[in-house]
Amino acid sequence: MRWGTSNRSLAGARGLEIWIGALGCFTLAAATGALFRFGMLTGLPAGLSLGNLRHAHSHLMYFGWVTPALMAMIAAHRFEARIPSSMIWILRATLILGLGTYVPFLLYGYQPVEWMGRRLPLATMIASLNLFAWYTYGGVYLHWTRRLDHPARPWWDLAVFFLILSSLGAWGRAALTILRMEDAFWSSATVHFFLNLFADGWIGPALIGVAGAGDPEGLRRIPRWAWWGLALGTPGAFLLTMSPAEVPTALRILAGVSGGVMALVLLIVMHRLFWRVPWEWRIPLISLGLRALAELGLSVPPIASWALGAGLRIFYIHLWLAGFTTLGLMAGARQTWGDRAVPGLPVVFPAIGFLLLSLIPLTDFWPPAWGGRWTLAVAFVGALFPVGVALGMLGKILQGVIAGSAKTLLASHMEVRDEYRSDGDSGKAPAHDHAGAPGSGSGGGGDL
Ligand code: HEM
Repeated sequence: MRWGTSNRSLAGARGLEIWIGALGCFTLAAATGALFRFGMLTGLPAGLSLGNLRHAHSHLMYFGWVTPALMAMIAAHRFEARIPSSMIWILRATLILGLGTYVPFLLYGYQPVEWMGRRLPLATMIASLNLFAWYTYGGVYLHWTRRLDHPARPWWDLAVFFLILSSLGAWGRAALTILRMEDAFWSSATVHFFLNLFADGWIGPALIGVAGAGDPEGLRRIPRWAWWGLALGTPGAFLLTMSPAEVPTALRILAGVSGGVMALVLLIVMHRLFWRVPWEWRIPLISLGLRALAELGLSVPPIASWALGAGLRIFYIHLWLAGFTTLGLMAGARQTWGDRAVPGLPVVFPAIGFLLLSLIPLTDFWPPAWGGRWTLAVAFVGALFPVGVALGMLGKILQGVIAGSAKTLLASHMEVRDEYRSDGDSGKAPAHDHAGAPGSGSGGGGDL
């Protein structure tokens, strides 16, 4: 197993197409977030609603951006430049199904759609298909990593396990709807279980593994009990994001302990990895530390009640999903596929930083006397920055890919011409076998 270096060549690096597709999903989802902010400022064009925009945004970010990008990175580290085609097809399916949730959620949200006299919950159906793609990835992951000795593997094992476990929350919510059980606790608990375990359990350990994969010494410095702390603490922490009034006292105590353990582990991970990772990981790791401190606060019921009532939810979510996850994915992409996978990377940091800062005036933390319509305008501008940066990045990558393909095409064209020439000189028929087979006369040049 060769360890990731930031200068790794892109030539033949399979899985890069998944990264490009996921980055495209990120750009579209971020633009949808910006449209949401624009809608808050001026209203939305007919047919669109803020609620549906929010669903389309969050599903595309989770299913089309984070999940395929993380799966591709894990696969690329596992297989180096030769990801088996079965795995590539699963990654493609995950990406396409993730993108497939966008239009139904944008147009209909969770509302059923009339089709051939039947009412179909289209968006829910496509979202459920995503879960099957994840299960397939989980099965193939298990098969391919059985004998893999890699210091990041325990973290990836945990991440894939939590991804599958989180989906039980989604099935539980569907079962409650089918059985028409209208229990407030279970309705809320199943949704929070799914969303939180996905965000904390899948993304957290998977990115920790990716961060440490470039230099295994960093991961080795994390004590073994920290892995167990995350394994045991993460599943119960979802109760912290529910309203304290909804959660029975015994469960609230369990949630507080779980959240406290999780936060402690994240702080240790940040501390142990910080100086062993390349520069681009430092800001994501600082976001990880800030999120851990916020989690510690949430573990204390009076602080949790205050924070949930102070409109901090959206800021808190994005500190993790944009500050740690998105910046971490960009850092991971550089480590996995090289600089050309993330052109203009340094600009992404201030763009996400400004997005996060622009959310603060929308919270109750901000004195009402300083508020006003300008806060919505600033949030809109703050949302536009990541969209612009991601668009620029995509454009540059595609330019590089097209230029690279043209070069390869030109090189193989010249090679064929040279073969014609030399074969013409020797009076033989031209050879077209580019497999570099012994005696083909191509000198193995087909390996370009
Ligand atoms: C990078 C640019 C981003 C922008 C401009 C943006 C914008 C927004 C906006 C406007 C909302 C709705 C806020 C509200 O309800 O008041 C939102 C919610 C949300 N966003 Fe983002 N966001 C971004 C990044 C992300 C990322 C990277 C993720 C996930 C990986 C994400 C996941 C979510 C989730 C889960 C919600 C909450 C949905 C809900 O309440 O049901 N966002 N975002």
